[in-house]
Amino acid sequence: MRRGLFITFEGLDGSGKTTQINRLATWLKKHGHRVLLTRQPGGTATGDRIRALLLDSHSKGMTPLCEMVLMFADRAQAIAQVIKPALAAGKIVLCDRFTDSTEAYQGGGRELGIETVLELHRLVCSNLQPDLTLLLLPGLEPSLARARERNQRIASAKKSSGDENRFEQEENAFFHRIRQQYLKIAAREPARVVLIEGDHSIKEVHEQIVAAVAERITGLGTGAIHP
Ligand code: TMP
Repeated sequence: MRRGLFITFEGLDGSGKTTQINRLATWLKKHGHRVLLTRQPGGTATGDRIRALLLDSHSKGMTPLCEMVLMFADRAQAIAQVIKPALAAGKIVLCDRFTDSTEAYQGGGRELGIETVLELHRLVCSNLQPDLTLLLLPGLEPSLARARERNQRIASAKKSSGDENRFEQEENAFFHRIRQQYLKIAAREPARVVLIEGDHSIKEVHEQIVAAVAERITGLGTGAIHP
């Protein structure tokens, strides 16, 4: 059977990735494709536990290296348990974040540099590369405001000790470095990365995403494409 298609979504917190990945999943299913939707960190039982550790603002004093290695531990589990089996079964895998996030957040944001990230990717992920990456980069300020507002809302609704605020508490300079690193990735790999920059409506972004995806799934053999 032909290998499926591996599509990743990338962007800053609050960039609208989750809304868009869900819309694309609905669109693909409507056109007869088999879709697996997952996210990083998380997406497996082990990964969800790693996610809680990584994102909880109570995880004080975690070093950048520890953070990076945990991201790869999560990814190793997800590739073995979820991503590879789905691709082997011919599915379209939609993954909310992948190694570009580590390059942008830990390599750029935490200033660990990209060489270690790319080397770990080769070792831990057998250099698995997405067929297509949709990089959403709306303006920095509106994205961060959305992300911080959403996490506050979730934290106060949950009323439990855990939260997902650790990254949103960082200063804007951290997110600025992440944005710059994402732009470098897009410039370095134009065939893989489709950059959707600036503030557009949900519908406009969805249409751009569908156009990019439709180009790649022609010939995948499942479902007709009518964007
Ligand atoms: P999410 O809220 O989009 O699921 O992302 C979780 C957070 O984890 C987000 O702030 C980005 C961060 N992250 C990294 O720093 N490095 C990574 O490799 C991944 C996958 C996520």
